[in-house]
Order: sequence, then structure tokens, then C-alpha cells
Amino acid sequence: MSAALFSDAAVKAPVIASADLTSDFSITAEELRALLDLAADVKLNPTRYAATLKHRYLSLLFEKPSLRTRLTFELAIKQLGGDCVVSIGPIGDREPTKDLARNLDRWTNAIVARTFLQSTVDELAQWSSVPVINGLSDLYHPCQSFADLQTIEERFETLAGLKLCFVGDSNNVAHSLMLNGARIGMHVTVACPKGYEPDTNILAQSTRFATQHGGSITVTNNPIEGVAKSHVIYTDVWTSMGQEAEAAQRIESFKGFQVDSDLMRHADKNAIFLHCLPAKRGQEVTDEVIESNQSAVFDQAENRLHAQKALLLMLLA
Ligand code: CP
Ligand code: NVA
Repeated sequence: MSAALFSDAAVKAPVIASADLTSDFSITAEELRALLDLAADVKLNPTRYAATLKHRYLSLLFEKPSLRTRLTFELAIKQLGGDCVVSIGPIGDREPTKDLARNLDRWTNAIVARTFLQSTVDELAQWSSVPVINGLSDLYHPCQSFADLQTIEERFETLAGLKLCFVGDSNNVAHSLMLNGARIGMHVTVACPKGYEPDTNILAQSTRFATQHGGSITVTNNPIEGVAKSHVIYTDVWTSMGQEAEAAQRIESFKGFQVDSDLMRHADKNAIFLHCLPAKRGQEVTDEVIESNQSAVFDQAENRLHAQKALLLMLLA
């Protein structure tokens, strides 16, 4: 990153051409690189950006619970000089989603939505005249992966060529990591039980990105093989929000996929442990691993704030 790029009093942030972030497909490899550079600068020089989004307002919509996404978007817009309103509850029940979108875009400058279905985020974007940001859907969690990549780059001073193994369920978090890790040149392995492999379209697309950017995507049902010599070991809950009815079955299916100290020993000796949080200690990860010196989960949580500030600047400044 050129230091001069963001040193003007009037911040000139790079833009995201698609004008939405409905999924990881909304951002190009170049825009992702620019976002990570901007996130690093925002973290280092927060006051430089303090008034950048003055008089800009966000609508935050949550169909599912949230701590990190909600509070970091609230703080991000406020620390950039703007403000937000929050609505919690089902989208599309009380009135059609297309009407909701055309109310919110009259009052606020962008919409962040955490939904059950990806199609809800897409429908909001279709009808809204202001940017729509995916704050987690059944398929993607792009904002999480931006903070993940920022955290990894801080620790290793690089991303391309690093080996990341996601152990567990091939869920929204795994999908976004596959897509963004691949397009930044990382080697991403998903180690999951049979029957819990990534979405086939996302697997194909991320493999294509990996080929273009010098990385790779691997799927294995063997966690030890997957973790071998990895620089980053990542896991997430076995039962995501909305899948609660499958929880007992999933505990059975994911036996052998817990990230514990034994599994960590197969990784690179300087490996870090990541988890998007909230974690179910004793299921997908042991208390020992999440509390170990290798764990970077709270840096990762902090970076949600910085990465989302960068995203808001790119969409709204
Ligand atoms: N990681 C994450 O998105 O956390 P929340 O569910 O608390 O927002
Ligand atoms: N995969 C989890 C992530 C929570 C941040 C879920 O969707 O519940």
C-alpha cells in the first residue's frame, strides 16, 4: 500500500464497482486487495477517517442473533462520523422484502442484512437503490472473511502461498474463506466429514479463482491430512444458526473433527488458530486451543471493526 494513497484530508477510498456486497462474488481480487490495504490503514490511523461518512446512515437488519457483526457495524459507522438504525426480526413477513428495500433506501445510505436465505439479501439488493451488504446468510459471510484475511496478513506479513485448513462444517464462513482465500493466492483445504462438503458451485468457482491466482482448493474427509503443515487452522460451529434441529446428528457426524492440541501438532510449528466466534468449546474446539498462544481469535474479532470500516468507505465515501 502506498502511504500517500490515504493521506489526503479528503479521503479518496477505492470503490467496489458492483456497488453492493451481496456475496463474495460482488468483489474482485483487486478490490479485495484494496480493502485489506485500507483496513490496515484505518486500523493504524483511525482519526484520519473520523468524519469521512458524516451524515451517512446505515440500516442494520437481523433475522438471526449477532454480537460481533451488529456491534462492529454500529461502531464502524459511528466512528466514521455517521449513524445507524437497527431492526431485528423476520424479513418479508410483515411486508414484502421489495417494499422493505424501497423504504430503507429512502431513509438510509446502505443496508446491512443478516438473513436465513441468500435470496433475501439478493432481493433486497435488487430493489434497493443503496448498497446492500451481506452480514451473513446461509451461504456466505464475506465480512468475516475480510477480517480473517486481515488477521492472517498481520501475523504472517503475507497471504499468497500460505496454507489454511478449515476443519468442520463447510458452512457460510468456510465458503467465504474459500472464495476470498483462493482469489488472494492461498492454499485452502476444507477437512469435513462425508456429506458435509462445500456447495458444489462455490467449490467450482473458488477452484477457478485459485487457478487464476496461484492458490489451490482441496477438500478432504481426513482432518490430520488436511491440517498437515498448515499455517492457519480455522474452525466454526458444527451447527449454524437455523440448523438447530440437526444439532444432535451433527455432534455424531463431526466426531474426530474437533480442533484439539493433538490436531494442532500436525500443523506448521508457527500456525495460528482462528474461529469466527461464537465458539462452542468442547465441540468444534477445545478450551485449551482457543486459549492457547496460537489462538488469534480476539485479534480476528477486533479486525471485524477495521475491515468493515474499509468496506463502508469503499461503498459510501
Ligand atoms: N462472527 C460473527 O459474525 O459473530 P456474530 O454472529 O456475533 O455477529
Ligand atoms: N456458521 C455460523 C457463523 C456464526 C457467525 C452460523 O451461521 O451460525
